[in-house]
Amino acid sequence: MSPFHLTRTLPEDTTDAALRCDVQEGLTGSPKTLPPKWFYDARGSELFEEITALPEYYPTRAEREILRARSEEIADASGARTLVELGSGSSEKTRHLIDALTGLHTYVPVDVSESALTLAGEALVAERPGLEVHALIADFTARMTLPRTPGPRLVAFLGGTIGNLLPAERAAFLAAVRTLLAPGDALLLGTDLVKDEEVLVRAYDDAAGVTAAFNKNVLTVVNRELGADFDPDAFRHVAVWDAENEWIEMRLRSRTAQTVKIPALGLAVDFAAGEDLRTEVSAKFRKEGVRGELSAAELELTRWWTDGEGRFALSLSVAR
Ligand SMILES: C[S@@+](CC[C@H](N)C(=O)[O-])C[C@H]1O[C@@H](n2cnc3c(N)ncnc32)[C@H](O)[C@@H]1O
Repeated sequence: MSPFHLTRTLPEDTTDAALRCDVQEGLTGSPKTLPPKWFYDARGSELFEEITALPEYYPTRAEREILRARSEEIADASGARTLVELGSGSSEKTRHLIDALTGLHTYVPVDVSESALTLAGEALVAERPGLEVHALIADFTARMTLPRTPGPRLVAFLGGTIGNLLPAERAAFLAAVRTLLAPGDALLLGTDLVKDEEVLVRAYDDAAGVTAAFNKNVLTVVNRELGADFDPDAFRHVAVWDAENEWIEMRLRSRTAQTVKIPALGLAVDFAAGEDLRTEVSAKFRKEGVRGELSAAELELTRWWTDGEGRFALSLSVAR
């Protein structure tokens, strides 16, 4: 049997129904919002990879630095035979962990992006003979059924992606992750940390405009999938720091008063000049907050590592 399996746990029409539902709800609400998972078609996944190499986008480099330094400790502490990675994308940084986990039997990358899973999975089985890769096209905020693989299990959630969930969504998500773990299994969580506003805003509004193109890609997805007539040039990419909630918001600001038609939903959406559509929240964290959120999900924080400049943290927590 091939060591690379790709399973779609969401039928394609369910994905379509989910997009319709999110667009209907998000564009008729106030303020207007869209969930970030719709950025990631093949082009969106490519653009995200470009973002990770930008000089302003420090999280990927900081997290890679921690993984390089700490993967052996993580491997010793978890002894995992199955590594599940949620929102795995290119699985690029994960290679440090895969190499350190000497008893690893199966890697289970989970992502909504089929193109990212296929590219990463095929490369990994070629590079690491003997490793089973069982990729799942799935929404990590929905109920997930993992393949039956040997324990102990380590679930990794890297890139600070947890910050894209709102606080109540994070609580539900962590409680759901806890149900995937047996006692002694562990969660490795990457969290971006609160820091200077200017550094944060620049990370989400780079000089080359790659993040702006990534942000506008969601409009292209809605145009293609639902026949909408969004003109991406009629919107401006904006990144704003919300000091009270300690999160960055990515928004698309309508340059003029305009009406966008979405035929698949029979919807016409009015935008006022200067009106914002929120496309992503990226929460920034502090250690005690992370400990508290994990503890509420019955996960005990046992290790906390940061990069040399204290910009990003990786934590290991254990299911009791
Ligand atoms: C910010 S990127 C991080 C990618 C990678 N983990 C890293 O650290 O570079 C978020 C990843 O999560 C995936 N993603 C976003 N929302 C998702 C969802 N609801 N379910 C599954 N995957 C999701 C995206 O396709 C993307 O690969």
